[in-house]
Amino acid sequence: MTSNLPIDGRRLWDDLMHLAEITDPGKPYTRRSFSPLFDEGRLWLRQRFEAAGLETRIDAAGNLIGRRAGSEPAAGTIMIGSHSDTVPSGGRFDGTAGVLAALEIARSIAQSGTALRHNLEVIDFLAEEPSEFGLSCIGSRGMAGVMEERMLAYTDPSGEVLSHAIDRVGGNVSALATARRDDIKAFFELHIEQGLVLQDGKIDVGIVTAIVGITRIEVVFKGSADHAGTTPMHLRRDAFTPAAKTAVFVDRVARELVARNAGLFVATIGIASVAPGASNVVPQEARIIIDARSENRALMDEFLARLDTETAAFAKESRTERAVFARLSDTNPTACDAGLRELLRDSARALGFSSTDIASGAGHDAAFVARIAPSAMVFIPCRDGKSHAPEEWAEPDALAAGTAVIAEAVLRFDRLDA
Ligand code: GLV
Ligand code: MN
Ligand code: MN
Repeated sequence: MTSNLPIDGRRLWDDLMHLAEITDPGKPYTRRSFSPLFDEGRLWLRQRFEAAGLETRIDAAGNLIGRRAGSEPAAGTIMIGSHSDTVPSGGRFDGTAGVLAALEIARSIAQSGTALRHNLEVIDFLAEEPSEFGLSCIGSRGMAGVMEERMLAYTDPSGEVLSHAIDRVGGNVSALATARRDDIKAFFELHIEQGLVLQDGKIDVGIVTAIVGITRIEVVFKGSADHAGTTPMHLRRDAFTPAAKTAVFVDRVARELVARNAGLFVATIGIASVAPGASNVVPQEARIIIDARSENRALMDEFLARLDTETAAFAKESRTERAVFARLSDTNPTACDAGLRELLRDSARALGFSSTDIASGAGHDAAFVARIAPSAMVFIPCRDGKSHAPEEWAEPDALAAGTAVIAEAVLRFDRLDA
């Protein structure tokens, strides 16, 4: 492991592997937001933050924050972090690498005896991955002041309301406005690339130019539950038929939009269910969630308009009803801060690491923080670009390199920002 860095890569790696062990044993690596395992992971994180001398709290939006006050608190705050929740059967690096890198930076700076002028905060944002409530980036939305009332009323499959769940993990929805921050002077997030650019180019770090906009649409078709053997084809009202046509449509239109070469566009149906769900019953209800992403808002708007028209037509053709067509969330593409990007580039060069500009097709908390503060991201290579899967892997040296680049940028920013 590289040793002449401003951080301790071994200690960081040990922390990361420890947190990974707090998982659903039958489904590694799973630590879903709002679950008992999530609380367990956070309890451990909180203890690690405190052992590093950070003062910890959970803000009103449910974000876990560790803070070390600066020598000139009026200079504002440098914040670093990511998220500790995972997708079901996810990996050991997505999100957690960024939280523990932030902790390692704060710990190393404290141990070196360096007094920062700015306050330094390490953050674990609440529920970055799409939660059981159908919403992602819950904590960073709250911090940016863009959590909508209607979102707080979303429910999970057990019927719990999101506002209640945020309070349950230590937030305070009745005081949500207090989570909004105006003192953050710079936000840095380290993340695995979740793609192949860095590995293929043998490049140490990616400096993110922009993060895609993400729109999630819930569509529910309602038909009639009937006997699958005795109901003739022309009489049935099968709710799955328009859902299946929608899946084919989404794939076709996404490919058409990609072919225009007007910026990244992808669309996925990762949630689909039918009820009552028996092989010998015609589906009465079908529910799908479409996740569409683009760095070009015009492509997204065209996709959404066509999806609206076509799903209504598919429902009509199959004599079903399109009972729900709801935008669960909708964000615009976000550019990272040009000044912080330059600082990261200079920091990488000073430490002897190669870097490249890179766009992010994944969503990140940094996209929400960017609404209230200059924000930037560092990507590190991950094996074969694999992510949201147990095979997710980044080399210890790669993690140490990305962490060191942010540590160097924090020190430089602290000196430069007047
Ligand atoms: C976050 O992991 C995303 O869905 O991009
Ligand atoms: Mn993820
Ligand atoms: Mn992530």
